[in-house]
Amino acid sequence: MSPVRALLPRLAAIALLAATPVPAPVSAQEMTLAEITEAWLIGPHGDYRSPSFTHWNEEGEVPPACAACHSETGMLDWLGADDTPALSVEHPGTINTVIGCASCHVSEAEALDAVPFPSGVVVSGLGGSATCSMCHAGRASTDGVMEVTGGLDPDTVAPDLGFINVHYGIAAAVMHGSEVRGGFQYAGADYAGRFAHVPSADSCIDCHEPHTTQVAEDGCIACHQGVNDITAIRTRHGDFDGDGNTSGGIRDEIEGLHAILYAAIRTYATEVAGTPVAYALGRFPYFFTDLDGSGAIEEAEAAFPNRYASWTPRLLMAAYNYQVVAQDAGAWVHNPTYALQLLHDSVMDLAEVIDLDTGGLQRP
Ligand code: HEC
Ligand code: HEC
Ligand code: HEC
Ligand code: HEC
Ligand code: HEC
Repeated sequence: MSPVRALLPRLAAIALLAATPVPAPVSAQEMTLAEITEAWLIGPHGDYRSPSFTHWNEEGEVPPACAACHSETGMLDWLGADDTPALSVEHPGTINTVIGCASCHVSEAEALDAVPFPSGVVVSGLGGSATCSMCHAGRASTDGVMEVTGGLDPDTVAPDLGFINVHYGIAAAVMHGSEVRGGFQYAGADYAGRFAHVPSADSCIDCHEPHTTQVAEDGCIACHQGVNDITAIRTRHGDFDGDGNTSGGIRDEIEGLHAILYAAIRTYATEVAGTPVAYALGRFPYFFTDLDGSGAIEEAEAAFPNRYASWTPRLLMAAYNYQVVAQDAGAWVHNPTYALQLLHDSVMDLAEVIDLDTGGLQRP
């Protein structure tokens, strides 16, 4: 039994004691058990009030399709640590259970090394980042979008199409790029695979302390000198969003191109699909009919019955990629090239049918 596993029964008691300030991010090996527990408690995985753990409280159980990532009992079920087969969830999860120590430290979790992604591709050699990668893999891929759009005319509204949401916190899907096809990859184009950064900052737990999940930024600045904020990091000079400004971080290029894609999606929706669309961050299912044409979704418009319903295949592909980048706040560091390629290709695809000046854009 691993040392951590032997301690698991004591952890509930320790959790109650933890109210002192958080230690600075250091390696878990240098932290005491109490410090680790404190770190986990202030981190996202220990937040009992989060929608990620309370969303199903009224239903009384977390459905098997959601349980692996949203309930400790579901994760243990997926791992096969509950005497059911591994890599599948047989039972609903318990509501309001956070991602506790056992989720990552039962022997099945510590032995986990290979993880299946929604495309069906299995990535191995993940070591201590395998559990992270499973839960942060997203829930859709190129393959799923192809499945529903195959054989349809690209610019005809298909009433059966609905928005396909890649899901949230999809860092692993973005980081592995074309290896796992988490973005919508257009036929005939090449996409970046796993972001090969540097050996010391290459996996989830190289950069994120696993308990707070915070990133120790001092290490970044030691290599990337001359910036005082990690979001200002860039190592390439390309003006990918064509705004004539390459002084900011690579994140600025992604944000610039994301905004260009949004404008293109809106123009296409009005001119080709025939119904104006707008996006509402944090409001499921994100794309709604823009009834007043304001370009934003106001409270009255953000209702489920007003969800956008005039999808063409071309619009769905672009909206899918828009959401991929919107839902990975760290896309600029997890895999900047992949994010830029997805956005670029969606803009260019829409520009085949709408009037859009794409002359200044560059594809990395
Ligand atoms: C492969 C893992 C995985 C599966 C399966 C999964 N989720 Fe999630 N979900 C996540 C992660 C990770 C987050 C948190 C992302 C973040 O906060 O960065 C999340 C967040 C959420 C949130 C909170 C969104 C918000 O805006 O705060 C809801 C609601 C949710 N998921 C619903 C579901 C439902 C419903 C299902 C089943 C149909 C499901 N999830 C299945 C990984 C998963
Ligand atoms: C989201 C996954 C996750 C959760 C939840 C989690 N840990 Fe960890 N923990 C890790 C990872 C990953 C490492 C680093 C392992 C490595 O470096 O290979 C680690 C390291 C440790 C270590 C250092 C010794 C070792 O095995 O490397 C201890 C002790 C520890 N965790 C205890 C806990 C306790 C106690 C809790 C609950 C309060 C907890 N962990 C919750 C993922 C997690
Ligand atoms: C069992 C599933 C699961 C595992 C394993 C897991 N996560 Fe998470 N992670 C989640 C969920 C669910 C959330 C959202 C929690 C919340 O809303 O408080 C989340 C939140 C996060 C966040 C904060 C996202 C935000 O929106 O602020 C980070 C960063 C993160 N996880 C990184 C990691 C890392 C690194 C590991 C591996 C050490 C890991 N996760 C392992 C499911 C998981
Ligand atoms: C090169 C370092 C690095 C690597 C490798 C890395 N991350 Fe990140 N990650 C970051 C930084 C920096 C941010 C942005 C931090 C922030 O906004 O708080 C981030 C953001 C995130 C977020 C979103 C947090 C939020 O505030 O919404 C999640 C979730 C996450 N990472 C999980 C992971 C997972 C899972 C892996 C492995 C598949 C991973 N990261 C690999 C550095 C890294
Ligand atoms: C050991 C030195 C080193 C460390 C530590 C390091 N990096 Fe890097 N980083 C590099 C190098 C070298 C590249 C160029 C890699 C390439 O292009 O293949 C790079 C590339 C990047 C890029 C892509 C920039 C672009 O223009 O595409 C980002 C973003 C980045 N690093 C952020 C971070 C963050 C955030 C951290 C800390 C969590 C970090 N780096 C830690 C050396 C480092």
